[in-house]
Amino acid sequence: MIQPSFAPRVFSGIQPSGELTLGNYLGAIKRFVDMQGPEFETVYCMVDLHAMTVWQEPHDLLKSTRELCAGFIASGIDPERSILICQSHVPEHAQLAWIFNCVARVGWMQRMTQFKDKAGKNSQRASLGLFCYPALMAADILIYHATHVPVGEDQKQHLELTRDIAAKFNHDYGVEFFPITEPVIEGLATRVMSLRDGTKKMSKSDPSDMSRINLTDNSDTIALKIRKARTDTQSLPSEPDGLKERPEAQNLVNIYAALAGQPIEKVLEEIGGKQFSEFKPLLADLAVAELAPISTKIKKLTSDTSEIDRILRRGAERARHITHPILERVYQIVGMVPK
Ligand code: AMP
Ligand code: TRP
Repeated sequence: MIQPSFAPRVFSGIQPSGELTLGNYLGAIKRFVDMQGPEFETVYCMVDLHAMTVWQEPHDLLKSTRELCAGFIASGIDPERSILICQSHVPEHAQLAWIFNCVARVGWMQRMTQFKDKAGKNSQRASLGLFCYPALMAADILIYHATHVPVGEDQKQHLELTRDIAAKFNHDYGVEFFPITEPVIEGLATRVMSLRDGTKKMSKSDPSDMSRINLTDNSDTIALKIRKARTDTQSLPSEPDGLKERPEAQNLVNIYAALAGQPIEKVLEEIGGKQFSEFKPLLADLAVAELAPISTKIKKLTSDTSEIDRILRRGAERARHITHPILERVYQIVGMVPK
């Protein structure tokens, strides 16, 4: 339950580290689009400061950030209805993150599975930024007093930590200042899996391009990747129970259902009994119909970077009307001398 004193506001972010995938689209962006409307104020962010917690070539980071902005807009984020920003343009994110570095505990960060996965065996050599990444993420959310955060399943632990940080801050300083944010992990595709291995998440950082569908892939590439997607040898079941222990089949059916906007049961009524050789072309047609127009729009938008930069400048201006007063209030609460 969100404390009633907070107006409903949505915040979410995506890292500009490589191309957007179908996982990002179904697990996050499509839902960002749906949340635009009278019910919420919506703020969506390209988290460039988070991306650099692992090495990024400066030239690639710049390009990926603009491409991500184009991907948001091409997928239906309206820069008038939503505030669309680049994290580094709104300095209050990083300023609040410092305060949260002093609220959060080392033990909390050590439990984060994303840190363990990304740091790998040699965690002593990981950047300090990668370690305290979740404190910056909590700051992204709480500098807006955001009440709802749509994300994929993999971000659940970070959102729990955000709630812990908000609660500890409120408790330590004896205030009711930060909301206890609600994660919004919904939809049929909160965890889209790799096309090469149904037990691994589809990820922009997977070395195999065949493991994912990128939002910039053209129709032929999308169809090829689906045709080559790993499957088992059985036909498709008519009931969801028949997908148990069949991770690749489950994944393709989930993707189909999410693209079609239909429940799994309904999809299986239609496709139950078919072989993958019959099902895959249907899935490819559906994916191409939804994604090809997005890919075309991304290309068009990225051909004019000045327009993208203008949208981001405007977004940052609007964002700072919210973030500046909140940071001032935080400084006051913790005992900084007023300027
Ligand atoms: P990232 O690409 O890690 O910055 O993720 C951006 C957003 O996309 C987050 O909300 C993730 O949870 C979501 N996301 C990333 N990969 C997937 C996936 N394979 N399935 C579902 N959601 C995903
Ligand atoms: N950590 C998120 C990811 O990797 C990206 C992110 C950064 C984010 N700040 C956020 C998501 C704030 C939601 C809210 O996907």
